[in-house]
Amino acid sequence: MSAPLDDGALASLVSEALLGIEAQEHLSGLDELASRLRGKDSPFILARRSLGQIEDLEERKAAGARVGAALEQLSAAVEERRAALMVLERAAQLEADRLDLTELVPRSVRVPLGRGQTHLVTQTRRSLEEVFVAMGFVVHEGPEVETDWYNFEALNIPPGHPARDMYDTMYVDLGLPETVLLRTHTSPTQIHLLEAAVAHGTLPVHAVMPGRCYRLDTPDARHLPVFHQIEGLVVDKGITFGDLAGVIETFTAAYFGPEIHSRLRPAYFPFTEPSAEFEITCTICHGEGCRTCSRTGWIELGGCGMVDPAVFEAVGIDPAEYSGFAFGFGIDRCAQMRHGIADMRALVENDLRFARQL
Ligand code: PHE
Repeated sequence: MSAPLDDGALASLVSEALLGIEAQEHLSGLDELASRLRGKDSPFILARRSLGQIEDLEERKAAGARVGAALEQLSAAVEERRAALMVLERAAQLEADRLDLTELVPRSVRVPLGRGQTHLVTQTRRSLEEVFVAMGFVVHEGPEVETDWYNFEALNIPPGHPARDMYDTMYVDLGLPETVLLRTHTSPTQIHLLEAAVAHGTLPVHAVMPGRCYRLDTPDARHLPVFHQIEGLVVDKGITFGDLAGVIETFTAAYFGPEIHSRLRPAYFPFTEPSAEFEITCTICHGEGCRTCSRTGWIELGGCGMVDPAVFEAVGIDPAEYSGFAFGFGIDRCAQMRHGIADMRALVENDLRFARQL
């Protein structure tokens, strides 16, 4: 059997094969060619087989090395071509998948998409804001991540104070000297607002401050560990408890309707003195007494009171010159009361059958 073992013949076979590899336009064609070059009819494989016919040892070795080098050169060329083709094919695929986002779809073929809506908590927050804005309040927002000083100390809750128990939360390790936490109520925004008012000389303050709050509560029918509050703060000269009661009653009638009233019951908060819990007529039974209100006819909405002098002192306001009141209540609780939602967890479960009713 004659085999192309001399240099010249081998070189021309190699360059022919290289041209063939370069000419491949698709990965499938390249794969086919590559296996033909290594198959039993390939001139290179035939050449390797016929090496045994060479008598002279040195000559046989040299011829073997030439065939081996030729095969290696061809596999390298195949791999190089494969890499190039993969890039090209990927680009072609992307081009084929491209969407023309500027294209105008004729009205006749448009698919009508259902329009979304804002979450009930957002709707509730907005309508609460509207009621307070109509009463002359401005809206402010504060940070959800607070330092211990804003969430507790400036609000007259020093370390170790028993009131901290009901405000357990998650702590954030930022490697700072202060303790950083997720706020447990919107009251720290009172402090930010008063500090800014003192710094810019913009007292008096009439503001509501809505936002998200966190507590280590187990979710149940009336509690969520992530919930929303709206805080109110009025600081001016000559503000009395009567102003507080009037604002609460005006708000209650405006938001829940004229047949729903408010009442204040003595309570304790470290940052207000005197303090009260504010309750509204149960919207489920309209004051008759039912299971939701534990047969009292009233539902607790939040806390309120006259700003404690210790809070004024923490922000550098003279309590002899200014007085004020604050209140804070749950936005989620309001939504629950206004829409008669038995279980508050429905607000975060994302069941469309629930969401679509609102
Ligand atoms: N921050 C209090 C709470 O979340 C409510 C409150 C606000 C009480 C303002 C008094 C004044 O429990």
